[in-house]
Amino acid sequence: MKEKLEKIIASAQDEIAAGDTLHQLNQLKSKFLGKKSELMDMMKQMSSLSSEEKPEAGKLLNLAKKQINRLLNSRELEIKELDYRRTLSIEQIDITMPGRRREKGSLHPITLVMQEIEDIFISMGFDIAEGPDIEDEFHNFDALNTPKDHPARDLSDTFYIGDDVLLRTQTSTVQVRVMQNHKPPIRIISPGSCYRNENDASHSPMFHQVEALVVDDGINFADLRDILNVFVKKVFGDQIESRFRPHFFPFTEPSAEIDISCVKCYGKGCNLCKGSGWLEMGGAGMVDPNVFEMLDIDSEKYTGYAFGLGIERIAMIKYKIPDMRLLYENDVRFLRQF
Ligand code: DAH
Repeated sequence: MKEKLEKIIASAQDEIAAGDTLHQLNQLKSKFLGKKSELMDMMKQMSSLSSEEKPEAGKLLNLAKKQINRLLNSRELEIKELDYRRTLSIEQIDITMPGRRREKGSLHPITLVMQEIEDIFISMGFDIAEGPDIEDEFHNFDALNTPKDHPARDLSDTFYIGDDVLLRTQTSTVQVRVMQNHKPPIRIISPGSCYRNENDASHSPMFHQVEALVVDDGINFADLRDILNVFVKKVFGDQIESRFRPHFFPFTEPSAEIDISCVKCYGKGCNLCKGSGWLEMGGAGMVDPNVFEMLDIDSEKYTGYAFGLGIERIAMIKYKIPDMRLLYENDVRFLRQF
């Protein structure tokens, strides 16, 4: 019996030392100590031994059981330690590796210019007004004193998306909406998108304007000049002048186009201003009394000025962008510069 036990212990020792997962160890535990193990069989056979033999046999069997248990336990500790080390080495962080960079976004130049314009006018007491991009003929043309046969209404300029439904061609629509809903004094600007069927280096089918409308008792052309002059100097710098050139817009009388002195040559004439020394920025004028009457504002009592500036123009001049299409291609190499 002693020999048999020694053999069992010897093979347990070998097999347990060779086991290298906890699962294998569990299988070995039932093989050597489980109900169907040789050791258990021997324990069951104890009843057939004589009473003199029993104590000695019991002692040996118990010792063998203890020894196998000890072998299992110490191998289990070893395996757990090995597993732990393996996990540590797999999950180890190499702090000398370069980190993953997070790309930094930036605001689009059009947004930057819009925000700057808003800040300037808010600081001068203006409110921001908004209107929808999808409009009707009344707000885009009729209420702006634009006759039915005006060329701007032509399908080739205006995107019609239904009978009397169109994409606004100008932010001047917001003037109409503001005057419908508020009585003077009015002092607003309205930046936003506009749409026209044109597309080349200086025209995009979707573009942006900022509209201004000031209506009150005693507003005159000098107020308009003043505010634009202040605005131009704030955006482009003190050395830049603005000038008015007589023009026609249906909703203002008198009307003018606004130019600023060339930011590149300061008026001497260069390729940017095509030799004229001036750059075009938008239109302006005194609100036509017809517009007031159409919107129930007393044109005997109130006067007002309005202007509309091209935001792309301002961005292109300010950031020296040679082609308007660059603004819409979303090339990150271009956008990253702002
Ligand atoms: N809406 C005009 C355009 O898109 C620009 C303009 C001219 C706006 C004169 C005005 C204005 O408010 O008074 O060409």
